Amino acid sequence: MRTQVGIVGAGPAGLTLGRLLERAGIESVVLEDRTREYVEHRIRAGVLEQGTVDLLREAKVADRLDHEGIVHSGIHLQFDGERHRVPLADLAGDRSIVIYGQTEVVKDLIAARLESGPPLLFETPVESVDPERGVIHHAGGELECDVIAGCDGFHGVCRSGIPEGVLTVFEREFPFGWLGILAQVAPSIDELVYTHHPRGFALLSLRSAELSRYYVQCDPDESADDWSDDAIWEELRVRTALDGWRLEEGPILEKGVTGMRSFVAEPMQHGRLYLVGDAAHIVPPTGAKGLNLAVADARTLAEALIDWYGGNGDDHLRSYSQKCLRRVWRAEQFSYWMTTMLHKLSDDAFEQRLQLSQLRYVTSSRAAATSLAENYVGLTTMA
Ligand code: FAD
Ligand code: DHB
Repeated sequence: MRTQVGIVGAGPAGLTLGRLLERAGIESVVLEDRTREYVEHRIRAGVLEQGTVDLLREAKVADRLDHEGIVHSGIHLQFDGERHRVPLADLAGDRSIVIYGQTEVVKDLIAARLESGPPLLFETPVESVDPERGVIHHAGGELECDVIAGCDGFHGVCRSGIPEGVLTVFEREFPFGWLGILAQVAPSIDELVYTHHPRGFALLSLRSAELSRYYVQCDPDESADDWSDDAIWEELRVRTALDGWRLEEGPILEKGVTGMRSFVAEPMQHGRLYLVGDAAHIVPPTGAKGLNLAVADARTLAEALIDWYGGNGDDHLRSYSQKCLRRVWRAEQFSYWMTTMLHKLSDDAFEQRLQLSQLRYVTSSRAAATSLAENYVGLTTMA
């Protein structure tokens, strides 16, 4: 079998890339290890930057997003018994975020691809890739391609297809994780709340008017099964408590623990292989950047391929890695900063005082709040 672009992985990166190429008349085949059902129900991120929303609109996969997505023009930071609103849109040139689950983005992209026809093969694990020859070895045989897009996430096989010595890896692992729940209860507040508390971080988010998405800082190797529903609600209640406000509770539909790491592999290209999204980089989720970075990489690669197939040379393909890495490192820095400002890092009282001082600064200085806001909604200068 032969195609122009072989895409490994049907997550946000692979599906977005496939959609953009399809609209430009470029052939692709998407190979995905898991079932459609599994991919569509894997609960992960929920915050879309303005740039991500704009791209999904241009790609004509935003009808449901435009109906069901919830626009937020601010977030709250809570610490020391106070809750402060950061007015994102006021500070960041009227740009805001949209709450729409990654599951829904993925469902919309899959539905669009299946309707228009280019191949999307589920339950087809890729075993290895040959970046020099442009060959993908998968369970059903071989796929020859002009270009391979490694969109197979952090644990995929594409990155390890790059010969030893080519990649430089930068990595930090955090000594904590997030226990995340999806609960069948109306959100108790209409915007996100990021909370710093002596017992650890907590985040109040949502998916819809009836579904809340909440997180608490936990040990990274804890199992979600070790947490009873009562223990989760108790921890959320204590960490987000505020005079005159109440956290509503409801049945927990899903729970899971995610480890936290920062990771970048440079460069993001070797031979005919281009790494896209989590296959090349991971951010801790505190800045809500993972999904947005994956979509931005896909756009950068699609634009470069459209140029190349259009006979406009390979300058953009050559600068793919450099262009993406500028944006990636900005998001790495922002996510690291948010993570270390908001989580319980140790029992060290000095460190805690510094965190509280930083939080007070960010919520009282317009300049500091603007810096948070423009990074959170996505920097246009990094597009
Ligand atoms: P993925 O979504 O990982 O997609 C990769 C795809 O490749 C998958 O479908 C996988 O099945 C497939 N694949 C893997 N190996 C192979 C193979 N050998 N052959 C074929 N297919 C293969 N970000 C946030 O901003 N907020 C969050 O709350 C948040 N929570 C997260 C929770 C978890 C558990 C994880 C893992 C990530 C979370 N993220 C979060 C990050 C965000 O979800 C990712 O950045 C985003 O999914 C990246 O998209 P991607 O397409 O690059 O990779
Ligand atoms: C969500 C996830 C995040 O990582 C974040 O920073 C904000 C919200 C969410 O899943 O809703």
